[in-house]
Amino acid sequence: MKYQIKEFEKNILYYETAKRQLETYITAINNEFEVIEDYNPINHITTRIKSIESIVGKLKRKNLTISLKNAEKLTDIVGARIIVDFIENIYEIINKIKANKNIEIVEERDYITKPKVSGYRAYHLIVLIPVSIDGINKDIYCEIQIRTIAMDFWATNEHKLNYKTNNHDLVYQKKWQETAKKVWDLDKSMNELFLEKKKNNIKHDKNRLNIELSFLKSIDKFGKLKRLGDTSG
Ligand code: GTP
Ligand code: MG
Repeated sequence: MKYQIKEFEKNILYYETAKRQLETYITAINNEFEVIEDYNPINHITTRIKSIESIVGKLKRKNLTISLKNAEKLTDIVGARIIVDFIENIYEIINKIKANKNIEIVEERDYITKPKVSGYRAYHLIVLIPVSIDGINKDIYCEIQIRTIAMDFWATNEHKLNYKTNNHDLVYQKKWQETAKKVWDLDKSMNELFLEKKKNNIKHDKNRLNIELSFLKSIDKFGKLKRLGDTSG
């Protein structure tokens, strides 16, 4: 057991590197939006590495022997949570992640269109990040959860009071589902406002582009006139 804990600790270096790599990719996506689209879809991100106690706990729950090999099969030792403002932002982020050839997506869990019975909503991606340490390459599993602020608010409170409590009281569970429905309705209304703004911004940008183009054309005309009238040579 002591030897196995030492081995787990060695593996932490791989997890740390994968986590940092993932943070860099996500920050780059946000910067890309900031420069090209003029807004930040990401409200904030959090990342974590599962503690050895939680890894052992999860292996036990899954009835797996506690070994490095089995721990490496767990897909959520490295986790990143991307909290965005609006539902639309979730899909914007997913598309950017999919466009990054350094990230291999191995599984998608759409708990947005298909929420969990609890009412939980988020979009999960299980990805592989290649890490090389001391000449040894390993593909490290990471779980990326993408949620709106409202979904995160619900999940955080539900996690504190209900998730994994084994409370099967139907009336209590129904109350949680009702709160999830309210959060979803609010998210949808806010998303409509965001989409409207996005459409207007595109219109505004097109107008601005047209004004700029006609301005450039008039300068060009002025230049031609000037050249016609120029008799110096
Ligand atoms: P875990 O053993 O909890 O990791 O679940 P899993 O391996 O079966 O995967 P799943 O996709 O169901 O959940 C992964 C993670 O999503 C969890 O660790 C939680 O962070 C989050 N999650 C899933 N379901 C719920 C839920 O009903 N409530 C809350 N608050 N979080 C949830
Ligand atoms: Mg988990």
